[in-house]
Amino acid sequence: MSPEGEGSKFSAESYYTTQPPPLSLDHDVSLIREFVSRQEKEGRNVVLVTSGGTTVPLELNVVRFLDNFSAGTRGATSAEYFLQAGYAVIFMHRQFSLQPFSRHYSHSTNPFLDFLEIEASLNGTASPPDICVTHNKRRHLLDVLTAYKRVQAAGTLHTLTFVTVNDYLWLLRAVSHELSVLRRKSMYYLAAAVSDFFLPRQKMSEHKIQSGKGSLLIEMDQVPKILRSMVDEWTREGFVVSFKLETDGELIVPKARAALERYGHQVVIGNDLNHRKYEVVFVSRKVGSLSPRASSSEGGISHNNTDNSSFVESWLRINPPASSPVLGTDYVKEIEEDIVAELVGRHEQWISAGR
Ligand code: PMT
Repeated sequence: MSPEGEGSKFSAESYYTTQPPPLSLDHDVSLIREFVSRQEKEGRNVVLVTSGGTTVPLELNVVRFLDNFSAGTRGATSAEYFLQAGYAVIFMHRQFSLQPFSRHYSHSTNPFLDFLEIEASLNGTASPPDICVTHNKRRHLLDVLTAYKRVQAAGTLHTLTFVTVNDYLWLLRAVSHELSVLRRKSMYYLAAAVSDFFLPRQKMSEHKIQSGKGSLLIEMDQVPKILRSMVDEWTREGFVVSFKLETDGELIVPKARAALERYGHQVVIGNDLNHRKYEVVFVSRKVGSLSPRASSSEGGISHNNTDNSSFVESWLRINPPASSPVLGTDYVKEIEEDIVAELVGRHEQWISAGR
């Protein structure tokens, strides 16, 4: 199919032959190769976590672009729990979206300057005053810093950035290829909110679109569905987890089932835009059983397998906090802790089944 013709439809293959790779791709790939090879030698499982939204530029010299809501909370939080569970993590995220560890002190919700104090200098000394951490924030900062330093010392976190949907697609394919050497010991956790539509390079205006012409009509092409290629060609038996976001709760399970049917991967995690922090559903084919680690004292997992379909749904819920927690002081339960525990159990079963 011609990608430039009217009403054209990109396959994964035609996409990669017509859209240019990001300039940093070769450099990124060589670093990933090194990282994966080290983790393989050290016997770790590796998870690729994708996180954040993608932009769709409207001009080659980009002034305007389309974007979406994703802040990268799901991806950054999950990455921390995977690291805690002993995984090495390739964290592929949208530039400036949240990142593991630093997410606790993001510029907007818990700015770090707000919990630093200036200690008055001692009488008569000329040395500059010291900086210290507000007393009731120390415990939390110490926990975050300790986990961060441990991960740095172990070298188990590798970070990659993308901005556009084109960057994302090229990186995803390249990372998948590199990670596929681990076969079943690799996991792909696709939490990014990827644009469904884009403007192919061949259709983009070179310069800033002029406003003088009145209203703007742009016909976008569909971003190719790459999950099929991922499962069949790129990941070689890796454990693939995709997400499904809906705003109409009724659509989540049918759409998740349809995705599993179409792409044949292992799990779809369904979430509703407004309840995604407290409730998700795992949809998978009816094989194996859930790991006991999934149960949570604050909610937990419940199975729903009342019909005769070949799928099983498992709901995971936690209680929303009764009042707004004081960030940086109170312990706040995060649903990603249970999501990751559940996936780690399923991944272990997947690895054992391949032996
Ligand atoms: O970042 P937060 O603000 O915390 O929000 C988290 C989230 C709601 C974005 C996340 O939990 C989530 O649901 N992400 C997937 C959103 C979605 O519905 O994606 P989709 O239906 O367009 O795609 C299905 C799956 O395929 C997703 O896992 C997506 O990452 C992946 N995909 C989609 C298209 C594409 N071209 N490449 C992909 O990898």
